[in-house]
Amino acid sequence: MLSLGCVLVLCLAAAAAEDKVRFNFSQTGKILLSWDEVWEVGSPNMMAFLMPDKSLKIKIALEGRADIGHSAVLKYKCANSATFNTIDLSSVTRHQERCESTQIPFSVRIIDAKEGSYEFKLLDTPLGSYDVFNSKLELLVEVLVAGQPEVKLVSNSLFVWSLEPLGKYRSKTSSGSSISTRFLTPDAVSFLKNLKMESNFGFKEFLDPSVVNALRNAPPFLRAKINMGAVLNFDAGSCENYQVSRAALFVNYHSKLDDKAQNLLKHIHLNLATGRLHYAAYGLSASIFNSFEGRSPTQVGICATLSFSGQGQPYDRTFSVEQKIPRDKVMYTKQGVNAPDCSLPDNVNEEPISIFSGMDHTPLVCPIICSDPLTVYKFTHTSKDHRRKALTPMSTKDWTEVDGIRVSKTGNIIEFPPTAQNRHAGQYMCEAGNKKFTFNADVVSMPQFSYKPSDGPSEVSGSLPAVIYAMEGESMSYNCSTYFNNVAQVTAEPVFYSPAVRESADWKELRMSEFNSLFGSRTVSVDTLTSLTDRRTINITVSRVPPGDSSTGRDFTHRVICRATVGKADAEKIGMPKYVVESGSSVFFLHRPTPASFDLSRARNCSEQRCSTASGAEFSVALKPEVTAKLKAIGVEVMAMFKIDDVYLKDLNIINQKGVSEITFERDTNRLTFKVHPITDDKVLVELQKRKTLTPVFNFRYPSRVSLVNLQLHKDRHGSRDVAAGDKDCRADRMCFYSTDFDVASSLRPIVMGIDFQGKPVLEVASAGPGILVAILIAFLLLLLIAALLVFLLRRDSGQTYMLDEKERQQGNHPDLEAKEEQFKEYQRPEEGGLKASRLSLSSSISAASKDDQELDEYGNDDDIDVGRFAEDGSFIGGYTTDPKKREAFNAHRV
Ligand SMILES: *[C@@H]1O[C@H](CO)[C@@H](O)[C@H](O)[C@H]1NC(C)=O
Ligand SMILES: *[C@@H]1O[C@H](CO)[C@@H](O)[C@H](O)[C@H]1NC(C)=O
Ligand SMILES: *[C@@H]1O[C@H](CO)[C@@H](O)[C@H](O)[C@H]1NC(C)=O
Ligand SMILES: *[C@@H]1O[C@H](CO)[C@@H](O)[C@H](O)[C@H]1NC(C)=O
Repeated sequence: MLSLGCVLVLCLAAAAAEDKVRFNFSQTGKILLSWDEVWEVGSPNMMAFLMPDKSLKIKIALEGRADIGHSAVLKYKCANSATFNTIDLSSVTRHQERCESTQIPFSVRIIDAKEGSYEFKLLDTPLGSYDVFNSKLELLVEVLVAGQPEVKLVSNSLFVWSLEPLGKYRSKTSSGSSISTRFLTPDAVSFLKNLKMESNFGFKEFLDPSVVNALRNAPPFLRAKINMGAVLNFDAGSCENYQVSRAALFVNYHSKLDDKAQNLLKHIHLNLATGRLHYAAYGLSASIFNSFEGRSPTQVGICATLSFSGQGQPYDRTFSVEQKIPRDKVMYTKQGVNAPDCSLPDNVNEEPISIFSGMDHTPLVCPIICSDPLTVYKFTHTSKDHRRKALTPMSTKDWTEVDGIRVSKTGNIIEFPPTAQNRHAGQYMCEAGNKKFTFNADVVSMPQFSYKPSDGPSEVSGSLPAVIYAMEGESMSYNCSTYFNNVAQVTAEPVFYSPAVRESADWKELRMSEFNSLFGSRTVSVDTLTSLTDRRTINITVSRVPPGDSSTGRDFTHRVICRATVGKADAEKIGMPKYVVESGSSVFFLHRPTPASFDLSRARNCSEQRCSTASGAEFSVALKPEVTAKLKAIGVEVMAMFKIDDVYLKDLNIINQKGVSEITFERDTNRLTFKVHPITDDKVLVELQKRKTLTPVFNFRYPSRVSLVNLQLHKDRHGSRDVAAGDKDCRADRMCFYSTDFDVASSLRPIVMGIDFQGKPVLEVASAGPGILVAILIAFLLLLLIAALLVFLLRRDSGQTYMLDEKERQQGNHPDLEAKEEQFKEYQRPEEGGLKASRLSLSSSISAASKDDQELDEYGNDDDIDVGRFAEDGSFIGGYTTDPKKREAFNAHRV
């Protein structure tokens, strides 16, 4: 029966040390990956735009049980396909084309299988199609854990988009032949050669209608970030390497714009919703005329340019449309009237703009077009709380940052950073001439478990604590908060995973009620705050950690996850079928220690080990190796100390000093030892004899590197802290979650060791220095002198006194020896350090009374008494004081 019990306990310990296997990834607010970045498998859904030959790194890291073997497969769904294909990642030694005939062909290869890192590379697209905005490649990773067929981890998806097919499109002419004008209309190409404009303000059909159609159906985040148009190159070099300063950009936006190109956007407006290029004839023709005449090129080139968010990354390509057009085939003249007129193109709606935080730059270009190049443009931001701020650029830089927003030198363009925050929302009004236009901007942040308050210096974490130690019978609460902005629907809920002890190795997903029913009562309670528009908070309280159930082998070890799910409509705005973020915590159950958790073989009391002054004593207690092993496996730190009666041993300076005793704690074995050396000092003996018991205190702590943000340990029910223990009292130690001190009144009490020292201090002759011998010699000589004197006196007087002395001797008294001791004391001080401090105490035992302070001071010169140690924090005196009132006052002082 006993052995069965032991086996069970061991089994439980082994099972409980397991942690649910899961992906290890860092929490980031990032949604969009750029090339050369790392997709940390397991993170919330992400997306990437790549260019051919650009790659991403795939990183698969597991945590929970890093020791177990696993195999990973990459699953991918080619653009517009309904089914997943599988690549065994252990076998992809070289590049091999996948999704060959689709718009997003790619290859995968191993970089370092041991580290779980792979390379995903986009290949060149074979054909052009306008489906690009709605077709993406979906990737996810499945991990199978060795020997546990039920354990399968499935990651969130990475969606890869490619804009490449747009540049490969060949449009059909009216005659039926196909020409490659990319996504420009043939009209646009001829317009770029002569800029023929019929009126002061007008437009040209500039973008291919099918592109415009496709773009209309693209997810909103994408629509807001597509930049496209034409480049008129006055350099006749290649389109890939054109220089902005030698070109005119007919685009809705591009981040490369210098001030000349920024100025050009005052005269044109390329509307991606209609495909039309609106122009102010005089401003446009004058600008191109000046550039052309200034450069005086012999040839010009026409390119089509396409970028995502206008940046070099993640996507920026320029395609050749027509090159080396001779000078005499183009004609640029000034047209129209230079008047202070401005115009707001038709069909430019004041529709709401969504700026997606965590994605990439989002520009707003003022759509007002003006004839006069000198027209002043001005943007004003009115925040949701009605504060107005002019976004005024500096005249010395192409771009100026105002309140986190980039403003162009020309005042007609602003750009939001990927870190856009809610304070950036509101109305952005641009004014030019007599026209005004307002953008209503919302900043959308998908939920994440941390955020940076606009007025706070640092990030606020909303994550669950990564690890929670659940000591049987203890109580705690923890929470998670997910922050978001302008997401219509977010639900947050806790999900529990409990190891299915009996049936299989898998962990079962449980709702709270199911989880609670496993433990027979309302163990866990949850409060969810849903009324806030920018946050969901889940408070989880464990009222009392239930004991393990030895019949089922189940204990409280589990994993809890806060799961925030975004509504379908919100997810689709960023082109994803769903969007879920999670923050999780591993909860490790710990049996409450009992005497059986300790190795007590060396915890013998004085009567057992025969404490004596001659041999000293040794008291030693350790946690049992299996307990230590489990604590180590889950990362619990142990700290231990001795209490001697109700005083902390380390504070008892008379005992706790070199040569007298040693207190050691071995971390590897969690063994606490108090070794008393043979006692040579009266004070030590007196001190020890005054004490009755020695009690070990074991504290269980979180390692200091662990962050306990959002975790609250309810230790107050164990009473107030023992101030004498200082910060080592578990109640005062933030990282401490349990102490055997909490169990003083319970079954742990037997681990108290009795102290009972008998006998007299041992004289250590061997260690006596020459000084003492000299002293003894002098004393002896003195005695001889006195004896001689006595003899002399006795001979002179009657023998009466002699008789008395004789009588005393017969009764066992030794008056001359006593006299010797008297003299010894008298003579020691003039000896000047010839006597060791330990010797001093032989004859003058320091009592606990406070007048000893003086005595200590008097001996202050002696090198063996460390006055600083006694006087510094008074700990010796305080610890020593037996008067409870005085102790209290002392303790109050220490706090
Ligand atoms: C998770 O990954 C990070 C970064 O690589 C690493 O520092 C950390 O130790 C890992 N955590 C676990 C539990 O393996
Ligand atoms: C969660 O607990 C905190 C205090 O720890 C409290 O302020 C907050 O209102 C609680 N939230 C919910 C949703 O109960
Ligand atoms: C979450 O828990 C921490 C620690 O108990 C507490 O300080 C914080 O107020 C809690 N947050 C919320 C939102 O309840
Ligand atoms: C000392 O230990 C022995 C054996 O465990 C026990 O019988 C005895 O009562 C103890 N004595 C004291 C004074 O604690």
